[in-house]
Formats: sequence, structure tokens, C-alpha cells
Amino acid sequence: MLLGYPNNPTGTVLERDDMTQIAEVAQRHDLLVISDEIYDRLVYGTSHTCFAALPGMRERTILVNGFSKAYAMTGWRIGYAAAPAHIIEAMMKVHQYVMMCAPIMAQMAAIEALKNGEDAVQSMVADYDHRRRFIVKGLNDIGLICFEPKGAFYAFPSIKSTGLSSEDFCEKLLLEEKIAVVPGSAFGECGEGYIRCCYAVALPDIEEALERMKRFVERYK
Ligand SMILES: Cc1ncc(COP(=O)(O)O)c(C=O)c1O
Repeated sequence: MLLGYPNNPTGTVLERDDMTQIAEVAQRHDLLVISDEIYDRLVYGTSHTCFAALPGMRERTILVNGFSKAYAMTGWRIGYAAAPAHIIEAMMKVHQYVMMCAPIMAQMAAIEALKNGEDAVQSMVADYDHRRRFIVKGLNDIGLICFEPKGAFYAFPSIKSTGLSSEDFCEKLLLEEKIAVVPGSAFGECGEGYIRCCYAVALPDIEEALERMKRFVERYK
């Protein structure tokens, strides 16, 4: 079973109770769980539960994580996995001949981030939280109904009121208003009728984007 929470593209955070129920399913069917927790530090008004920390889950979980999100190190190509030893040993057989290791400079930067980056993480998360509230309110105000995402840095509003498909919406918005968002359908058929808006950009840019989206939505209503 593959879990990805806090979630890309929806920003959903699974509460501990829901995770516990998933853990029961994993136990009952004797499943291995790959849990991608790359957004674990980016949660707002709630807390992240590490799936492997639930009773009995450590033995059956492959936790994957990295430095891209919490330390804004996208592109530095540094991540990690934690799993029972026999699984890591099997992964190493492939990994060491494909990658050798993560870039040394990125490893040094990651050590520095772990040692001295905490204040920066906290101020970045506070900033994201501000932008998150701003974009969710802005999207709802222009009629793109959006639930409150509690994690990651994405808002996932419905665009059904425009009558456009997700693909059409994104392409037209890009060509007509120079705004890049991702069609929900890129993430599977349940995503049709939604778009993913990333708020990991400066607040003035989000403000400008919302104004252009308002203009766009009014044209297609
Ligand atoms: C759910 C999820 N996992 C993993 C990653 C990986 O990031 P990277 O390849 O930069 O480590 C991303 C980045 O967008 C992501 O959204």
C-alpha cells in the first residue's frame, strides 16, 4: 500500500485515527506500506503522525522522506528511506549500482540544515500558513470552491462551475493569463474537475494570480 500524507496534490493530512484504521487493514492483509512523508513538516494547525510510529507498523513500513520541502532544497537530490534491515539491504543492491550516493555537496548542506535549520523551517512554515489562508480565501471568493488543506503547499479547488475540463482550464489559463496550475486529472480520474495551485511562491505573486484567475473565471462563467 502506498500512502502519501500530507498529500500532493490535495494538501490533505490524515489524522491519527484514520491512520490507525489503515494500519489495521495493513495488518489484516499482511501488507507492506510505503509511506512518503516528504511534507511531514508542512502542517498547519494540526500535527503529523509518522505511519511507522503506529503500533506494529515499524516492521512493515518503508518510510521515504527528503530535504526538498522542509528545507526548500528541491533539486538538491537528497532524500532517504527507513525500513526494516532486510528491505534496506535489498534496496541497496539496486541503489548502489544505479546512484552510488547522493551528491556530496547536498549531503553537507543537509547536515547543516539538520543542525541549524530549525528556525528557518519554522518561519517558512508560518509564512506558508499565511499564504495558504490567503489563497484558499481568494479561490473561494472567486467561486472556485476549495476545502481547507492542512498540509503541504497546495490548494485543490473545484473548477466545475466553469464547465471546463481540468485540462482545458489549465491550458486556457496558461495561454490567456500566464498562470501555471496543474490539472487534477494528471493525478488520476478522481482529480477531474479540480486543479492544483501551488502557494510556494511569494505573496504578491499569489495576489496577482488571484486577480488574473478572477478575470478568467468571469469570462467562462
Ligand atoms: C509526494 C512527493 N514525494 C516526493 C517528492 C520528491 O521530491 P524530490 O525528488 O525533490 O526529493 C515530491 C516533490 O514534489 C512529492 O510531491
